[in-house]
Amino acid sequence: MQRATDPGPFDGPTVHHRLTDSTNDRARELAIAGAVSGTFVTADEQTAGRGRTGRTWSAPAGAALLCSAILRPLEAHHSLLPLAVPLAVCDAAEALASVECQVKWPNDIWLEERKLAGVLIEARPPDWAVIGIGLNLSIPEDEFPDGLRWPATSLGHAVGPDEALVALRIALGRWTAATPVEVVGAFEARDALQGRDVAWDGVGGSGTQGEGVCEGIDDRGNLVAVTDTGERVSLGAGEVSLRL
Ligand code: BTN
Repeated sequence: MQRATDPGPFDGPTVHHRLTDSTNDRARELAIAGAVSGTFVTADEQTAGRGRTGRTWSAPAGAALLCSAILRPLEAHHSLLPLAVPLAVCDAAEALASVECQVKWPNDIWLEERKLAGVLIEARPPDWAVIGIGLNLSIPEDEFPDGLRWPATSLGHAVGPDEALVALRIALGRWTAATPVEVVGAFEARDALQGRDVAWDGVGGSGTQGEGVCEGIDDRGNLVAVTDTGERVSLGAGEVSLRL
C-alpha cells in the first residue's frame, strides 16, 4: 500500500486547458501518441464534456475538477478499474473535506445520496485507459443543469481544482495498484445500493429489464440482485436505478 505522501504511478505531467471540448478526447490523443502513464489532462471548462451512456457533463468554469488520466499498460489487476476509480475519488474527497462518500454501482460517487462526481473510462486494452473524472467542488445549486437523472451536489467552496488534483493523484495511485480482492472489499463498504430496491435496464448488456433487491457485488464486480420470484441476477453492464 502506498503512503499518503506518495503519488505512486499517477505523478506524470499535467496538460492544462482553459477551455477544451472534452478532457477525455485530449487524453485519448495523448495516449495514442504514447504519453506516459500518469499523464493528466485538466480543463477549467469543457464545451462537450461527456458522461456515461451518451450523456453530457457540464460544469461552470473553475467550479469542478475536470480531468482525464492515462493509465498504461492495462494489466490483470486492473480488471476492476471501473470500481477502483470511484474508490479513489471517494478517498480524495474525504481527504479534502469532512465528508463520507458512497459509490452507486458502477461508478457514481454520492455524498448524502446526491451525485458528487462521475467517472468515464475509455480504454484500448491492453495498451491504455483514459480515466475521466468530474468532481463537483463549488457549483452553486442553481447552476446544475436542468433535467439531471439524479440530484447533484458539490464538495464545498473551500476546495479548488489544483488541491483536488493533488489528492486525486495520490488516491488513484493507491487504488489502481490494489488487488481485485481489496477493491471488492472496499467497494462493499461504500456500496450505496446494497439492500436497496433497484431497477435495471440492460443498455448494451444482456438487454434485460427488471426489479429486485440489491445484494451487493460479486468478485468480478458485477451487481447482484434478487427478484421477487427469488431469481438471482448478475448485472455486468447497463443502468441501475434506485426505486424510491
Ligand atoms: C458520468 O457520471 O456519466 C461520468 C461523467 C464524467 C465526466 C468527466 S469530466 C472530465 C472528463 N471529460 C469528459 O468529457 N468526461 C469526463
